[in-house]
Amino acid sequence: MAGPTADLFADDALQQPQKREQIGEQSYLLRGYALPWIECLLPELRRVLAQSPFRQMVTPGGFTMSAALSSCGELGWSTDATGYRYTAIDPRNQQPWPALPDALRQLAVQAATEAGFSGFAPDACLINRYVPGARMSLHQDKNERCYSAPVVSVSLGLPAIFLFGGHERSDKTQKVSLFHGDVVVWGGVDRLRFHGVMPVKEGVHPIMGPQRINLTFRTAG
Ligand code: SIN
Ligand code: FE2
Repeated sequence: MAGPTADLFADDALQQPQKREQIGEQSYLLRGYALPWIECLLPELRRVLAQSPFRQMVTPGGFTMSAALSSCGELGWSTDATGYRYTAIDPRNQQPWPALPDALRQLAVQAATEAGFSGFAPDACLINRYVPGARMSLHQDKNERCYSAPVVSVSLGLPAIFLFGGHERSDKTQKVSLFHGDVVVWGGVDRLRFHGVMPVKEGVHPIMGPQRINLTFRTAG
């Protein structure tokens, strides 16, 4: 039988403030924030990827990205020789991108609120897959129509070092270690800061296997 002490502990656990680490004026790392969501999130992600699988994309500069990409939501992002763009149709199968699953939307909206951005309404979720060695060079997220909404980034699987720079490509970068379940939110004055991911180290994650998957939620349209 659960006595008063057990009940007190349960309440304490629920009221434990989330660890929120500020990494910029309007940017936060929410350590482990996605962990309670993982179980309902993974089957949804599997469904999305069955419909719009990962694919290797080429940048306008002619480089093949080392991270493989997919998307879900009303808009999905892609790149090819002619440029970067958001579209309502997946160019691979000419079908609409898979819908943004409710669990993913709720996680993104709550994380945004936790970071001071209430009313976040994501219409796009980019899904990046990094096998060991894959990376993402420094870039700004600026294909979205308006920058008033933050970017919410959820990390799954193998750890990675996230590089969080400034407003110029040459600005010094902070190195932020990201682990399975971590969420990063950047917006407001930090919305256009350069960021990237260092090459993912060899490894096998007990749940996700030999890969890192990153979800970034945006308001694109
Ligand atoms: C991105 O900037 O699109 C991805 C960031 C990440 O993989 O952590
Ligand atoms: Fe990005």
